[in-house]
Amino acid sequence: MSQIWREERMRHSSSKASSFWLIVLGAIGALVTAIIISLVGVYAGLYNVAADVPHSQAVYWLLETAREQSIAKRAADIRVPRDLDSADRIASGAGQYANMCANCHLAPGMERTEMSRGLYPRAPELHRGNHMSAAEEFWVIKHGIKATGMPAWGVTHSDDMVWDIVAFLRKLPDLSTDDYKALVEKAPSHDEIVEERTESESSGHSH
Ligand code: HEC
Repeated sequence: MSQIWREERMRHSSSKASSFWLIVLGAIGALVTAIIISLVGVYAGLYNVAADVPHSQAVYWLLETAREQSIAKRAADIRVPRDLDSADRIASGAGQYANMCANCHLAPGMERTEMSRGLYPRAPELHRGNHMSAAEEFWVIKHGIKATGMPAWGVTHSDDMVWDIVAFLRKLPDLSTDDYKALVEKAPSHDEIVEERTESESSGHSH
């Protein structure tokens, strides 16, 4: 009697095991088919790269997640200078922002520009606040973001100049239109900043 019961149990568990492997094989097959179909579609030019048509939800999720994770990982070891609230840094950052960033990211009291309206992904309006830490902002400004229009400013600007911009960005959401205009008017010119920052450059680099 117990012999029959044992055989019955073995048959039962082996059919359970084989249906498990069938499900795994089915899932792998479906995944491989999906990858092949996507690759054929990409190669046939079916994916629309136009900036006036949004990404599908799946592609949007993939790019958004890749961007968030990539920035968080790379910014994790960056040491933030302690003088980010210095008036000199903020003034230098204001001048650079008005020159190099406002065209895409806008500023208090500024209408949307032709450039900002055509960008996809959109350049966030940084005066409305930004969820990034100072280290993450530094990393993004220095290295840029592929295939978005956000340039790598570190190619042409020293780390110190990039930190000046970060210092300004920390203040930006609190500025009224008049505050912003006054800061930009008082800001040193681009050449003055370059000159000053190249002199103080020996003080060390971060990433
Ligand atoms: C030609 C347009 C353009 C210019 C000029 C530009 N950016 Fe960007 N920037 C973008 C776009 C587009 C994004 C969004 C990228 C994305 O969503 O992946 C972006 C993203 C960013 C982000 C990340 C914001 C977030 O919350 O995701 C920061 C910070 C930033 N830019 C700062 C700057 C600063 C500072 C400057 C000037 C030194 C600047 N950008 C100049 C287009 C621009």
